[in-house]
Amino acid sequence: MRIVILLLGFLALVQCKKQPATPTGLVTKNAMVVSAREEASKIGTDILQKGGNAFDAMVGTELALAVAYPFAGNLGGGGFMVYRKNDGNIGALDYREKAPLAAYKDMYLDSLGNVIPGKSTLGASGTGVPGTIAGIFEVYNKFGTLPIKDIIEPVIKLVDQGVEVTPKQADRLEKYWDQIRSVNGENTLFYNKCDAGDTLRYPALANTLRRIAINGRDEFYKGETAKILARFIQEKGGYVTEEDLASYEAKWRQPIVFNYKDLRIISMSPPSSGGVTINQIFKMIESYDIADFGHNSAKSIQLFTEVARRAYADRNFFLGDPDFVLIPLDVLLSKKYLQGRMESFSFDAATPSNEVEHGKIEIIESNETTHYSIVDQMGNAVSVTTTLNGAYGSKLYCDELGFFLNNEMDDFSAKPGVPNMFGLIGAEANSIAPEKRMLSSMTPTIVEKDGELWMVVGSPGGSTIITAVAQTILNSYEFNLSMQEAVNAPRFHHQWLPDHIVFETEGFSDALKNELESKGYHINEKPTPILGKVDAILVLPDGSLEGGADKRGDDTAVGF
Ligand code: DON
Repeated sequence: MRIVILLLGFLALVQCKKQPATPTGLVTKNAMVVSAREEASKIGTDILQKGGNAFDAMVGTELALAVAYPFAGNLGGGGFMVYRKNDGNIGALDYREKAPLAAYKDMYLDSLGNVIPGKSTLGASGTGVPGTIAGIFEVYNKFGTLPIKDIIEPVIKLVDQGVEVTPKQADRLEKYWDQIRSVNGENTLFYNKCDAGDTLRYPALANTLRRIAINGRDEFYKGETAKILARFIQEKGGYVTEEDLASYEAKWRQPIVFNYKDLRIISMSPPSSGGVTINQIFKMIESYDIADFGHNSAKSIQLFTEVARRAYADRNFFLGDPDFVLIPLDVLLSKKYLQGRMESFSFDAATPSNEVEHGKIEIIESNETTHYSIVDQMGNAVSVTTTLNGAYGSKLYCDELGFFLNNEMDDFSAKPGVPNMFGLIGAEANSIAPEKRMLSSMTPTIVEKDGELWMVVGSPGGSTIITAVAQTILNSYEFNLSMQEAVNAPRFHHQWLPDHIVFETEGFSDALKNELESKGYHINEKPTPILGKVDAILVLPDGSLEGGADKRGDDTAVGF
């Protein structure tokens, strides 16, 4: 009898752990878009409501972000998409920028071999060949169902109406105003300062979008827009030519797919490092029962830190554009290799980063990308991260076309092994070559549970994207937080070098930090940035959807 009671108790406990968290974010029955701005989520959702699918909505949302969130949403940048169709088919699209034909390994170095400050980050010289328009048309041509004009017209309407500047947006514009002014001079739209509540309008963008709606992707890569764009970039001292634009192609890639307990995680493959690095992170965590350690407890932070330390050491050394470098994926992702990596780990003390392979390689990336997640009423899911790299990219704004241009060339290692002006360091695998894609950390991800769609997730945040995405999945799966709680929960980050844990300002006690310090962990003492800005969707047990729109930004879930 006692055994039966014990057994029942145990089962109740297991059951209790498995009870799904009560949702705290927006819950809708059929479909949802979560993005950095309500206007963009709404345009995506309206497309779904009109009977479009997640891929139609992706096109509308991506373009709408260029209007409502020019900080990162773009026509002049690039990105990655991971999808899962309702029949279980999965895939990934790489519409990352590429280096222009005129690019060469030492292009950002002076005659003494030193990195020229600002050359890869400010203005046209840091601009790679944009991939966004090729990306959305690739998606549309393969999976789109609505007439393209029905998707683009609402975006043009948004441009015509203008977008209200939010207080957070006004702060960002203020922060970068000097740089925007110095790159563009006085005769640019963004020379005018914006306050919260003002309306931002760019009529030139409406004209560009009208031409694209009529002429399709070739308008951007071979048409009038291509001519204006190439001439503009060259006049401003950049490298991108008409020939570069004409030869740009988005590429379908095999996503990185792996299991973590009963989850199947589908994420972005190289030239993004996101999928490979979270694969390593999850596989190194899997042999521990992290849920038993407690959410954001010293022990779970320790475990996560140690696996991230080892995974980033590999990322920085081995990863680059797979069309140019050989990446030993089978070894990097094998059980034996990852077990070996964790042999030096103990809960008693931190493993110093200089005792972990691959020398002094440090990555510090900026925070100006954007992610959106879509689930449609048919059960198709799309996970997209897109970027101009820096805030407002290179700060170069093409007034004639109405959009900012990326400074993605800075994601290459200007000089392998040596930090560029933002501290971004890489190895030979990520050195510059004509037409090569620069290594990314973007991690658009889709998770299945028991074979069914379970979560769509991703984040901006440079190198912190990977840890933000991994922690959000763990928060929900292991620590039983609702989708919205999992997104809002305080985050921490470690990336091998520099050898310190970065904590968000809120949510980590002094006692916890002291405990970690006593074990040899270094804590970042500087004012802490936010770590990622996650937008995610969770499929609840009854099939409805819970949005997780990051409280750190103006991010909003919209659905029906
Ligand atoms: O591709 C990358 O990893 C970087 N260009 C992403 C930059 C980024 O995430 C900035 N912001 N949030």
